[in-house]
Amino acid sequence: MLDQYETHEHDVLVIGAGGAGLRAAIAAAEEGASVGVICKSLLGKAHTVMAEGGMAAALGNVDPADNWMVHFGDTVRGGQLINNWRMAEIHAKDAPKQVYQLERWGALFDRTPEGKIMQRPFGAHTYRRLAHVGDRTGLELIRTLEDRSIHSGLSVYMECVVTRLLTDGDHIAGAFGYWREDGRFVLFRARAIILATGGWGRMYKVSSNSWESTGDGVAMAYEAGAVLRDTEMVQFHPTGMVWPPGVRGILVTEGVRGEGGILRNSEGVRFMEHYDPKKLELSSRDVVARSIYKEVQAGRGSPHGGAFLDISHRPAEFVKGKLPSMYEQFKVLADVDITREPMEVAPTVHYAMGGVDVVAETAETSLPGLYAAGEVAAGLHGANRLGGNSLSDLVVFGNIAGKCAADHAQSQSEWPDVDERQVEEEKELLLRPFSCHGQENPYMLHEALQDVMSTYAGIARDGQGLAQGLRAVLDLQERARNIKVQGTRFFNPGWHMARDDLFMLTVAEAVMRAAAARKESRGAHWRLDYPEKDPELGMVNYKVHKSEEGMQLKPVPVAPMPPDLQELVKETK
Ligand code: FUM
Repeated sequence: MLDQYETHEHDVLVIGAGGAGLRAAIAAAEEGASVGVICKSLLGKAHTVMAEGGMAAALGNVDPADNWMVHFGDTVRGGQLINNWRMAEIHAKDAPKQVYQLERWGALFDRTPEGKIMQRPFGAHTYRRLAHVGDRTGLELIRTLEDRSIHSGLSVYMECVVTRLLTDGDHIAGAFGYWREDGRFVLFRARAIILATGGWGRMYKVSSNSWESTGDGVAMAYEAGAVLRDTEMVQFHPTGMVWPPGVRGILVTEGVRGEGGILRNSEGVRFMEHYDPKKLELSSRDVVARSIYKEVQAGRGSPHGGAFLDISHRPAEFVKGKLPSMYEQFKVLADVDITREPMEVAPTVHYAMGGVDVVAETAETSLPGLYAAGEVAAGLHGANRLGGNSLSDLVVFGNIAGKCAADHAQSQSEWPDVDERQVEEEKELLLRPFSCHGQENPYMLHEALQDVMSTYAGIARDGQGLAQGLRAVLDLQERARNIKVQGTRFFNPGWHMARDDLFMLTVAEAVMRAAAARKESRGAHWRLDYPEKDPELGMVNYKVHKSEEGMQLKPVPVAPMPPDLQELVKETK
C-alpha cells in the first residue's frame, strides 16, 4: 500500500517556495493558471532570507545618476563578461519595476528623509543601489510574497520533496516525490513546471545555506535532459561567522561593509587598501573573499582563521538601527557587542552562479515545458554575483517564468502522459537504501562529500586538486549505491539524506568537471596554476548535459554582445 501514490494536477507546478518560486506562482496565477507550489520545508522558510542587506535596483533615489545602464555594466563587469548579457539587460531594466511592485504589495522598505525608498551601497555597485529593510530584506521579501501568494488561489504542498522530473518524450510531464512526514509517495501531473529550488551550498562544510540547499533542482533537471552551465562558479561570501564553531558559516551581511564596516587583519592593518585601494571593503565578493583567504594564508588571520570586521566606529544607535539582526546575532550567538568590538569573519559558501541554462526572455530551460528561476537558474551573474542582485533576480525572473510557464501550459491542448516506468524507477531508487546490503551511512557520506568539495573545489583551486576531487566524487557516487538506512519511511531524516546525497553528488561532479576544464582564473573561480584571466580561451561557458556515456562538458563561446551594450560594460572613471 505504501508504494501507491496520490496524484495532484496543475497547469503550472512550482517546485520551491523561496522568492523566485513565490513570485513565479503569483505571476502564473495572475495569468489564470491553476498553480501548485511545493516547499521542501514550511512556507516562508527559504534561503532568500539570507540575502539580508538589500535588493539591487537602479531607482536613483539617493544617487540620481544611477540608471539601468550603469547597473547592467556593473553586473556584467562583476560577472567577468561571461554572463548571459540578455538576462543582465532584462534584469537591470525590470528590477526597479519589481521593487515598486513589492512596495504596492506591502513591503516596508527603509525610507530617505523625503520618504523615498532608501538605497545603500554594496560591493562593486557604482552607486548606492540596494533597496533594503534594515538587514532583513530577504525576510521582508518573503513575507510580502507569501502574503500575496496565499491570496492568489494557489495550492501549497509543504514538507514535500520532489525527487524526479517526469517527461513525456522531450516534454515535461510531471514530478514525483514523497512527503517528509510519513514517506508516502506523491505524483504531480503538470503542463509546465518551474524549478525554483535554490542552490547547492550544503555540499560544502562551511556555508550560509540551510539544509534544503542540496542541489535538487539542478540535479533533477540534468537527469531529465536539461543543460546546465557555469557550474564551476561557486560564490564564497566574504563574511560568515567563524566563532563559536556551532555558528560557523552563518552570514554576516555585506550591509555591514555597506554601512562603513572595515576589515582588518591580526596586525590591525586595513588590508583591502592593498588588494583594491579604490573600492576597499566594497570590492566585488570574489576579490574580498580571496583577500581574506590570502591574509589568513600569510599568517595574519584572526584567532579562528578569518579577519576582523569592525563597525564600532559608527554610533551605537546607528548600528542598531541599520543592522539590528547583526547586532542581535553576534550578541546572542557569540557574546560580541558589535557596537563596541569587531566581529570575527571568514568566507562562507553562499551562492551558486551556475545552474540550469535558461532562455533570457522566457526562463525556459532546454527541456520544453521546464522553466527555472532564481539561484537554480544560471546566466545572469556570470562568474561572480554582485550582492543584492539575487533578490532582484528572484522577482524579475520569477515573474517571467510564471507568466511564460502559464502561457505555455494554456497553449497545450493535451495533458502530457505520465510514464509509469519512470515512476517505478524512482520508487526503486528511493526504496533501495532500506533493502540494500551495503553499509554506507548517508550522513557520513555527506560529510565525506563536504570534505572533498571544501578541499578541492574551494576558494583556491588547482588542476591536480581538481583531478583528485573528481576522482573522489566518482568514488563517492559508487559508495552511494551502498547507502543503508535503518527504520521505516516515517519521520526518517537518514532516508531523506540518502536521496539528497545523490543530488549533491551529481552536482559535485558537474562542479569538478567544469572547474578542471576552466584553465584560467575568472570571478569566483581562482586557479593557483592559472592565476590570470585568459581573454580568449576563457570567454566560454561550460555547458553540461547527460549522455549515454555519462556527464558531458562542452565549452560554448559566450554569445556576442551588441556594441551599444558593450559600451556600457567599459570601466567607468
Ligand atoms: O550580504 C548580504 O546581505 C547578502 C546579500 C546577497 O547575497 O545578495
